[in-house]
Amino acid sequence: MNKTPAIGVFDSGFGGLTVLRALLSHIPSARYAFLGDTARLPYGSKSRRTIARYAAESAQFLVREQGAEFLVIACNTASALALDAIQDAVPVPVLGVIEPGAASARAASQSGDVLVIATDATVQSHAYATACRSQGLRALEKACPLLVPLVEEGWTQHPVTAEVFRIYLDELLHQAAAEGMSPDTLVLGCTHYPLLRPMIEKAVPAGMRVIDSAEATAEAAAKLFHPHESVERSPAAQISCFATDSVEKFERLGSRFLERPVGHVELIDLGG
Ligand code: DGL
Repeated sequence: MNKTPAIGVFDSGFGGLTVLRALLSHIPSARYAFLGDTARLPYGSKSRRTIARYAAESAQFLVREQGAEFLVIACNTASALALDAIQDAVPVPVLGVIEPGAASARAASQSGDVLVIATDATVQSHAYATACRSQGLRALEKACPLLVPLVEEGWTQHPVTAEVFRIYLDELLHQAAAEGMSPDTLVLGCTHYPLLRPMIEKAVPAGMRVIDSAEATAEAAAKLFHPHESVERSPAAQISCFATDSVEKFERLGSRFLERPVGHVELIDLGG
């Protein structure tokens, strides 16, 4: 694999910038094209067929128009429901976030029981439960649909968001207890949730590990590229951002996800 690859990173919105942020620290020398399909967000409440069509079109833009040689599907929902469709649509390697997230949960969990929070569509696909099972883990999944709009609103430290999360977590812990599980790990199965990490870490029972699939995915991508190259000696990354709508909001809020200014975001049209 090339030492300074062109990497396409795709998400339904700009939450996937948390994955780009993690990629930048693991593969700082790459040329990145990030696409947020903000016109068609949220994917998490849509059907498999629609998610697959949107995701395949987005992947084709990154490969055909931006020359991406490798794709990271930073969206959990697209990774859960459309990874096959994306692989069929483009002639480059494609990495999703589900398998790395499950592998990371395996490394973290002592009890073998894990909790997963994600969008409705991701939970209904049971992609995390399947990936966790293949790692020898038992997973209990819960959809937390109110968290994405709260993060999009920028309410990452708001008491309303903390209360909403507490309610979801209580329901999940009760269900786990009713099923005789002893979960010790919580997987953040949605691009937006890492922004709530400080709040989530305060709310979970003492000792529970919180797993961010963004970090695990970046580590998996880095192993494919330059496993022996020192990060310090690498030249700076180049980043181009594209969105299908809400460019101003992307520029304004995206820096929170990326933890650096996103710069100019180009508006593109992928059709309806
Ligand atoms: N990017 C989606 C995910 O990680 C969350 C936002 C959406 O529903 O489109 O599942």
